[in-house]
Amino acid sequence: MTEGFAADFGDFDGRVWLNCAHQGPLPTVAADEAREAVVWKTSPHELTTERFSAVPQRLREALGALLGVPADDVILGNSASYGMHLLANGLPLEAGDEVLLMQGDFPSNLLPWTGLEARGVGVRFLEPRDRMLQPDEVAQGIGPATRVLCLSWVHSFSGRVAQIEAIGRICRERGVRFVVNGSQAVGARPIDLSRSPVDALLGVGFKWLCGPYGTGYCWIRPELRETLRYNQRYWLSMQTADDLKGGSGKLEADRDVGARRYDVFGTANFFNFKTWAASIEYLLRQGIDRIAEHDRALVDRFVDGLDAAGYRSLAPRDPADRSTLVFFTNRDPQRNAEVYEHLRARGVDVAQRAGSLRAAPHLYNTPAQIDRALKALASL
Ligand SMILES: Cc1ncc(COP(=O)(O)O)c(C=O)c1O
Repeated sequence: MTEGFAADFGDFDGRVWLNCAHQGPLPTVAADEAREAVVWKTSPHELTTERFSAVPQRLREALGALLGVPADDVILGNSASYGMHLLANGLPLEAGDEVLLMQGDFPSNLLPWTGLEARGVGVRFLEPRDRMLQPDEVAQGIGPATRVLCLSWVHSFSGRVAQIEAIGRICRERGVRFVVNGSQAVGARPIDLSRSPVDALLGVGFKWLCGPYGTGYCWIRPELRETLRYNQRYWLSMQTADDLKGGSGKLEADRDVGARRYDVFGTANFFNFKTWAASIEYLLRQGIDRIAEHDRALVDRFVDGLDAAGYRSLAPRDPADRSTLVFFTNRDPQRNAEVYEHLRARGVDVAQRAGSLRAAPHLYNTPAQIDRALKALASL
């Protein structure tokens, strides 16, 4: 019998899914809501105006509670890239201004900014000493033209955690905007944006937030959001379908609708957003602190068992510095592809990244599953 959080998810066909850094599974309550959304669309009279407008509002409220910000400040997206493009294209950056990025960061954090070079905005890559930029490296790296630093909270290719509080304070002192990609962290680590020195946070919904693919969010500190120069005037953020009844063609484009103005188009996207809202509400009911504690115990159990199984952990020695992305390698790194296949054949799914292996457990995994993965590793 499954216990704890695991009982709220499917049975994974008996496999051990240690790849949440790639895709997080839907909890059962969210899968039920997805089925309900299919019923709405199968019988469109079910798609009432109330349901149509409740879908984005419910999601916005769940995300606001998750991030510690008012719901009205949350921008609904379909990816991390959506929010990143909004910032890269909308922030008032001029020729001669500079954006700092980390060498080797996830491409979603790099490409939208390098696209600005054509208009004279400089992009400079900082090479981290050890896979993730430390506060002193950021302090040293900031130059007179630096306007923005963009960084992952948890690095997809090493699992290293950015010290966002310390880095954010440095950025603030130096007048640099700090943009954080929380895709590999939010849902597995608590955050309170009302207290953090972060200027913008964005991420995907389909990993640690256990939502469908094609979901994402973006929060931009309201005073920064107001400086965006970005022509986005989506009619459904300004009015409702009911406003069309009179056929007056009334344009309410100048109404201040807050962050909603920048929502991705199609916010009543009930298949994805209704389902995702249910996932986030589920995570909130469990408590992100409790989930983080559970995840940490799984990570430590896995790291502690690697040596005996004949492998080398690449995770930080101090458990407090670890994330839920655990990189590890066979003593002979050339054998990592073989290890991956060996695990897969034994019903254990990890990922191959940057020449190493990556195990990424989340709340639905159990200590017994970690032991099964270690046993499978040892049996090669
Ligand atoms: C840090 C990070 N950002 C973004 C993504 C992908 O998101 P998108 O396709 O929305 O940019 C991933 C992984 O897929 C990731 O690890």
